[in-house]
Amino acid sequence: MSNAKLWGGRFAESTSEAVEAFSESVSFDARLWRQDIAGSKAHARMLGRVGVLKEADVSAICDGLDGIAADIESGNFVWDTALEDVHMNIESALTERIGEAGKRLHTGRSRNDQIATDVRLYVREAIDALCADIDRLAEALRALAEREADAIMPGFTHLQVAQPVTFGHHMLAWREQILRDRERFTDARRRANRCPLGSAALAGTVYPIDREWVAAELGFDGVTANSLDAVSDRDFAIDFVAAASQLMVHLSRWSEELILWSTPMFGFVQLPDRFCTGSSIMPQKKNPDVPELVRGKTARVTGDLMSLLMLMKGQPLAYNRDNQEDKEPLFDAHDTVSACVRLYAELVPALAVNRDICRAAAIEGYSTATDLADYLVRKGLAFRDAHHVVGSVVGQAVKQGIDLAAMPLATLRGYSEHIDEDVFEVLTVEGSVAARDHVGGTAPARVRAAARDAKR
Ligand code: ARG
Repeated sequence: MSNAKLWGGRFAESTSEAVEAFSESVSFDARLWRQDIAGSKAHARMLGRVGVLKEADVSAICDGLDGIAADIESGNFVWDTALEDVHMNIESALTERIGEAGKRLHTGRSRNDQIATDVRLYVREAIDALCADIDRLAEALRALAEREADAIMPGFTHLQVAQPVTFGHHMLAWREQILRDRERFTDARRRANRCPLGSAALAGTVYPIDREWVAAELGFDGVTANSLDAVSDRDFAIDFVAAASQLMVHLSRWSEELILWSTPMFGFVQLPDRFCTGSSIMPQKKNPDVPELVRGKTARVTGDLMSLLMLMKGQPLAYNRDNQEDKEPLFDAHDTVSACVRLYAELVPALAVNRDICRAAAIEGYSTATDLADYLVRKGLAFRDAHHVVGSVVGQAVKQGIDLAAMPLATLRGYSEHIDEDVFEVLTVEGSVAARDHVGGTAPARVRAAARDAKR
């Protein structure tokens, strides 16, 4: 019994069905067909330019591949798991369609440099699309920050009310996080954007290939420098999924805040109805499903990162079939992160801020206590002494159940004779935020300026 596979020459029997089912990848790597065809066309053209293929064969190959692309696009291409992967499905179809010339395409190439190329092209395109989505989300946050530049809310440490901040300031904090994530993606793109073609199976090829020409044709910044490394490493995919994981961790933190803020106990924001669902038993429920799912999907993406890291850790150079396992985590991370970013880009502009509730919550937690201490410092006390005095004032206010600003001047003066009528300016939450008027501060004027600068 011989073996009918493209590589079947040295085999005495055909592959077991169980092994075929176990080892096929076309059920998921068919997704790389565009990259695979682009790579094959560039390779064939290069072989024509250097005289390895006749121009007639190159044209037949390119036309044949275009026909296959059209059929895949329109859903008229039959993928066959017996042909293992995207590469052999396309190559077999090509030979079926154009005959002899199709068999010459794989000259000076291996599936090992072919798949490394496909995945690099995929990661590059994924990053470009994702950066565009991040830009939309960053703009949504910027616009919301501008809209809510003077909306006062409690700032938290330890999830305890700490000092008043503005809602706009909080939104600009989120924006900073994803701008750094964007940088991580563009940094990953730079390293991924090198062309492995020409590395062949692992050692390079004997043909007089022009690697630079192929690289330029495919929009790469240049070629990979070592054939063993180029067919083997998937660190560029790890870079991408690591950046995606960090982005998801940021989105997960926002989600946690939105979930808390939208409970009636906080009541800071209302999520638009179209982003929520109800309960099948409790008619009153409006659940923050989108933030919850984003928080949950963070587990998937960080899991994908672990999969890729563990996939690489035991591999000797050069290519090993283990690498076939890189696709599903990579695709999953990409799909998940782009869905989450897109949803948040729609949710953010639709967030309704309950300004009165936010302001009341900021007052309730004695959030201007630090301002009183700073006031005493301006009157000449050492900060440690001021801190102690204000601690006693707060203790008294807690006992009476009133805000610092509601304490009579006479009572306040009982704690320090440095306190005068002008103290009430610093005890208001408006006074507190307005005083933090420096780069990176929460003053409404600063938030507005930062939002304006970010638009430029
Ligand atoms: N499906 C394989 C992968 O994803 C393609 C390369 C296979 N190469 C090989 N020599 N079996 O990595």
